[in-house]
Amino acid sequence: MGAQQQVADAFVELYGAAPEGVWAAPGRVNLIGEHTDYNDGFVMPFALPHMAVAAVSRRDDGVLRLHSADIDAGVAELRLDELVPESDKNWTAYPAGVVWALREAGHPITGADVHLTSTVPSGAGLSSSAALEVVVALALNDLYELGLKRWQLARLCQRAENVYVGAPTGIMDQTASACCEEGHALFLDTRDLSQKQIPFDLAAEGMRLLVVDTQVKHAHSDGEYGKRRAGCEKGAALLGVDALRDVPYADLDAALERLGDEEEVRRLVRHIVTENARVEQVVALLEAGDTRAIGPVLIAGHASLRDDFRISAPELDLVVDTALASGAIGARMTGGGFGGSAIVLVEAGDVEAVTKAVEEAFAAAGFTAPRVFEAVPSAGARRLN
Ligand code: GLA
Repeated sequence: MGAQQQVADAFVELYGAAPEGVWAAPGRVNLIGEHTDYNDGFVMPFALPHMAVAAVSRRDDGVLRLHSADIDAGVAELRLDELVPESDKNWTAYPAGVVWALREAGHPITGADVHLTSTVPSGAGLSSSAALEVVVALALNDLYELGLKRWQLARLCQRAENVYVGAPTGIMDQTASACCEEGHALFLDTRDLSQKQIPFDLAAEGMRLLVVDTQVKHAHSDGEYGKRRAGCEKGAALLGVDALRDVPYADLDAALERLGDEEEVRRLVRHIVTENARVEQVVALLEAGDTRAIGPVLIAGHASLRDDFRISAPELDLVVDTALASGAIGARMTGGGFGGSAIVLVEAGDVEAVTKAVEEAFAAAGFTAPRVFEAVPSAGARRLN
């Protein structure tokens, strides 16, 4: 039985009638472009096959009922006119935040019954929260015939996460979940959300992309993410630009000089400016069909996140170092940092050897065993029935 049918059946059990529809929204990995999204910069995520699936029906009595098959907590029943930002510390804050953001923006949502389940690992830096937000936003957009575009849904989901949940994240994850296409990576300009789908079919070229979930949990509402964001904003202010996106790579040295003895800000600025350049480099290489040449760019991206942005973790560094030492083409941490996942680009024939080397290195270091899986660029959010 498919996930779709299971979710629809569970909905009937819970709420006593068939849902009006079933929707799906995926998690993502980011190929390159880390922490650039709240600096108006470039990112390049692609969607995972892992996804949140939601069965949804409308209600007209101002009530939102939420249930997850993954969390043993029963049905949460919330009143729409009592939704208050930062009041909910549970998973329900994500879907409730979306309803709150839609209503705040003037959309006439009068209630909903929601049952969902997700295969996106949580706390692994793979955007499990964005998947939850986007699946609910898309369902309500369809059911209430709001006519919102994908990028508009992503913006509303980001607002839900920033204001309602209280995590100061950028726009990448929600846009990836809403807009990615199968077989492609999404080259996204986070300033105006203009997008280009870049064909990314590693299998056709004899390569694979592995995701290594270190099992070290991270959370964006923790302070470090916000500190980096504030440091970047300080850098932009000191340099007199709207956002660090406005510092061209060619002007980096001059900008660093202007920052004088602001050592920490200098490091943050250097990461963002070089990372934006790396995204453009990866796009150019992929468009030229020179896929293997992105390996060194990924490696440089990891070094920048580790040494300049300082958001890596011993487990992430161990994945990268071990993978490279055992023949990987490229490797880097992906997502917000301080744990979560790394990506490893390998020749198809090296998958087993690299996986084994990483697993052995984790065991030798006394770390929890990592979870390794192959990531295939998959479809973005969609209605299943
Ligand atoms: C998290 C945030 C994104 C982005 C990444 C880092 O995933 O949700 O907005 O900032 O970290 O690139």
